[in-house]
Amino acid sequence: MIRVGIINVTGYAGAELARLLYLHPEAKVTSVSGRSAAGKPLAEVFPHLWPLDLRVSDELDDVDFAFSALPHTASAEAVAPLVRQGLPVVDISADFRLRDAAEYQRWYGVAHAAPELLAEAVYGLTELHRPAVREARLVANPGCYAVGALLALAPAVKGGIIEPDIVIDGKSGISGAGRTLGLTYHYPEANESVSAYALEGHRHLPEMVQELARLGQKSESSARVTFVPHLIPMTRGILTTCYAPLVDGGAGGQAKVRGIYEDFYRDEPFVRVVAEPPQTKHTWGNNLCLVYPTVDARAGRLVVVSCIDNLVKGAAGQAIQNMNVMLGFPEATGLDQPAVYP
Ligand SMILES: NC(=O)c1ccc[n+]([C@@H]2O[C@H](COP(=O)([O-])OP(=O)(O)OC[C@H]3O[C@@H](n4cnc5c(N)ncnc54)[C@H](OP(=O)(O)O)[C@@H]3O)[C@@H](O)[C@H]2O)c1
Repeated sequence: MIRVGIINVTGYAGAELARLLYLHPEAKVTSVSGRSAAGKPLAEVFPHLWPLDLRVSDELDDVDFAFSALPHTASAEAVAPLVRQGLPVVDISADFRLRDAAEYQRWYGVAHAAPELLAEAVYGLTELHRPAVREARLVANPGCYAVGALLALAPAVKGGIIEPDIVIDGKSGISGAGRTLGLTYHYPEANESVSAYALEGHRHLPEMVQELARLGQKSESSARVTFVPHLIPMTRGILTTCYAPLVDGGAGGQAKVRGIYEDFYRDEPFVRVVAEPPQTKHTWGNNLCLVYPTVDARAGRLVVVSCIDNLVKGAAGQAIQNMNVMLGFPEATGLDQPAVYP
């Protein structure tokens, strides 16, 4: 049994890691840390985690594998010494996603705390980087919006069937913003209201551009990507709709596009190309990404809808999928479960 530690179990992503890992047959959470709850039993802080007989501490005890669910900057500071000691780590924060330290500083407003580790960190969207994840000791879990967008677009970009002129519309439940309190997320403000935000540039945009450029073997500067995130009054889930002009003007029709998507994801345990546009309820609480590609024949445009649970495929489930690959377990170990319905 692998002994696993969770740094910052007190956030939504950390608590979701603890919940999902409880079902993992090869890994056992033996140590959890969290500033505000240090010294308390985990089940007192989170009653839904009652079967986990653990006390929250200031720092992790000796473990074989660690996840960090800290906010960016604090995460790099906590993770870097562990990686240098040789501990395999999946970092759920944004700290190791961008290859370029200057780009990180531009988007996150601070100098990177461990720039020397950026070259070896692997971008942990398993479906795109499985061989590198297998060899990695530091995996940067992707941003939740980036998971939905990249899985929706990867077959089209890799297959060269769209022009590099992409619009990504993302709609997220409010847990995407974490547990930290803020007026925008206050019930009377958010309930029965939908809003667009970060129109001038959301922090998940540079990682989307980085990965789309890699997939299309193009420079990042040649990619034209507009990403507009929206906040939706629901707890979990991200629905992403992506649009791009088709190189053939749509002449191949939906069957050609579906064929490309089905081939691309044929052996993937967590991506399904579905027959009807998916809804966030279809992935509530599980690690699936559902993808529905179609063609707007009048406009000659590809339209792809994807949905995920932001806390599972967008965070904790994706992180466990990466751990499974890093440690040589079957990729779906502990993650193979249907969604919660209704
Ligand atoms: N929510 C999502 O859907 C999602 C998806 C993908 C990735 N992520 C990433 O996962 C990480 C955690 O996100 P989350 O949504 O779980 O956040 P969260 O629920 O807001 O948790 C953040 C917690 O981190 C602790 N914290 C804040 N600043 C800290 C610092 N400087 N040092 C130590 N602890 C600090 C606080 O816990 P205490 O009260 O205990 O101090 C705070 O409650 C972030 O990097 C986020 O970008 C989140």
